[in-house]
Amino acid sequence: MISRRKKSFFPGAKAIFLLFLILAAGATLVVASRVSNLMKPNIGPNDTNFPQSNRPIQPSGPNPCSYVPGPGHCKAPSDASSSIQHDSQCSEDLLVHSVFILPWYQNPHKGNPVESDLRRFSVEFNLPGISMASTMLSLTSATPSASLSMQEILKGKARLGSGTGSTLFNKEKGNPFIKEKSFGRISMTVAVNASCFEGIAMAPPDPILGVSEAFRADTDAKKLNLGVGAYRTEELQPYVLDVVNKVSKLYLSNWYIAERLMLERSENKEYLPIEGLAAFNKVTAELLFGADNPVINQQRVATVQGLSGTGSLRLAAALIERYFPGAQVMISSPTWGNHKNIFNDARVPWSEYRYYDPKTVGLDFEGMISDIKAAPDGSFIVLHGCAHNPTGIDPTPEQWEKIADVIQEKNHIPFFDVAYQGFASGSLDEDASSVRLFAARGMELLVAQSYSKNLGLYAERIGAINVVCSSADAAARVKSQLKRIARPMYSNPPVHGARIVANVVGDPALFNEWKAEMEMMAGRIKNVRQKLFDSLSAKDKSGKDWSFILKQIGMFSFTGLNKTQSDNMTNKWHVYMTKDGRISLAGLSLAKCEYLADAIMDSYHNVS
Ligand SMILES: Cc1ncc(COP(=O)(O)O)c(C=O)c1O
Repeated sequence: MISRRKKSFFPGAKAIFLLFLILAAGATLVVASRVSNLMKPNIGPNDTNFPQSNRPIQPSGPNPCSYVPGPGHCKAPSDASSSIQHDSQCSEDLLVHSVFILPWYQNPHKGNPVESDLRRFSVEFNLPGISMASTMLSLTSATPSASLSMQEILKGKARLGSGTGSTLFNKEKGNPFIKEKSFGRISMTVAVNASCFEGIAMAPPDPILGVSEAFRADTDAKKLNLGVGAYRTEELQPYVLDVVNKVSKLYLSNWYIAERLMLERSENKEYLPIEGLAAFNKVTAELLFGADNPVINQQRVATVQGLSGTGSLRLAAALIERYFPGAQVMISSPTWGNHKNIFNDARVPWSEYRYYDPKTVGLDFEGMISDIKAAPDGSFIVLHGCAHNPTGIDPTPEQWEKIADVIQEKNHIPFFDVAYQGFASGSLDEDASSVRLFAARGMELLVAQSYSKNLGLYAERIGAINVVCSSADAAARVKSQLKRIARPMYSNPPVHGARIVANVVGDPALFNEWKAEMEMMAGRIKNVRQKLFDSLSAKDKSGKDWSFILKQIGMFSFTGLNKTQSDNMTNKWHVYMTKDGRISLAGLSLAKCEYLADAIMDSYHNVS
């Protein structure tokens, strides 16, 4: 039976195969000629890590596709239906699929074509500049209607398998991605597919969050993630604060009950106002300035709930861009990496003031003051309210006074980023003292707040932007404009995190519990800091002074290791950290301090 099949089919198959080769060669020529027309300029990446001056100007046109040369360019769709048109036109310009449907043949055993006899082959072309071109050959025992779904075509993968029969091709007839030509019983279908996003280059991994991705991929048991600033327990596990669990009742077992409870208390899932939850806005401003601060009593603070610290900074950046055109923003060198991204994306010019002195691994106070003095009058000076990221170096109270003097003299506007209130010293009030000092001088200022770290609400995206103005009237106007900026960005903020904060901060018992937990977290980090210092000092006989580690504060320690040394920490010791030498002590346990000290010693002394 098998040999009879071979005898009767093989010559036919041979002919079919030859025919396929001829068609494939022809198609390759067609494809090649299309390719030469398709080469198009690469629209450069819009990577916000680019220095401001080097960043490519964003095309102001309607759609990146309109920049692709050649016929049938994509136009920005004006409505849903034209968007479909848009895709197919782009497709023709960018990618080519060739699908060959060879003559059907009949199954001699069964007389009529049946689905089980369908055989399909596909071959993948890899053409320069074309990412998904594929040629498919279908040998069907039915009709030329047997084919592949568009999804399958788009996959462009070499396959051999049973076909599915008759109906798909009819669907594809109406599909603008496919052009069909008939040669008697042979029909050739050229399917042109593409992406409007061909000009978008792969973005580099985020310098901070990318570290966690690399960490996850490492299978070494000794690995240690000191990259991201997120609190871990002594067992190096993520930590949900008890007080948060209590309020949100997010224990998995009674999550449903918690949701029901919220509904019963009329805490429904309706939209929040653009400015956020009123109860949250009230307590967050009070937490920052102190409930009896005149700026609160005189209603001089415009508070708008934001998408955590990052989103709140972004709102403020948009306000600066809109109402202070050309104003300079000054950020510390170094600073949290996302500051540059935020101001770049908001198209706000920024420059740096000196902050870190590598010689002392401490604050370059003179440099900082002279750079702030040299900035054009009315610049926005971004200051980390406490626990400076990445250095962990904060000005002393006396230095804060001098910084405030210079800022006042120059009519600059202080712009505080408070992402670690309570995490630096363990005291919410102490960590807000820098902000309160400026407010007490009657200065107008901006403060972005985050509850990612101090309440462990990383994923809830809860924070606020506060603008202290000289009058209640100005504050009302500023608030109205912040809302106007937020509306087209994200419309209104999420509610869950706001409710947690409002409940914890607004309830005296829970508030006290939270303070105790925060002291515990800050205390664990202080213990780890001390142990790391002790381990380094005991191991290092070179006379190097590691005491800078103890002078730093908050989650981070700036080790002073350069990029090559930091690479050695990762490649040799499986210690994941940012390339600027920053380690997050919140990701370190007492048990791992010795190991980390060995890694630092090796990297510092043996790698230059
Ligand atoms: C200095 C600083 N500002 C703002 C943020 C914002 O964090 P989030 O957007 O998670 O609140 C961070 C987080 O690491 C930070 O370190």
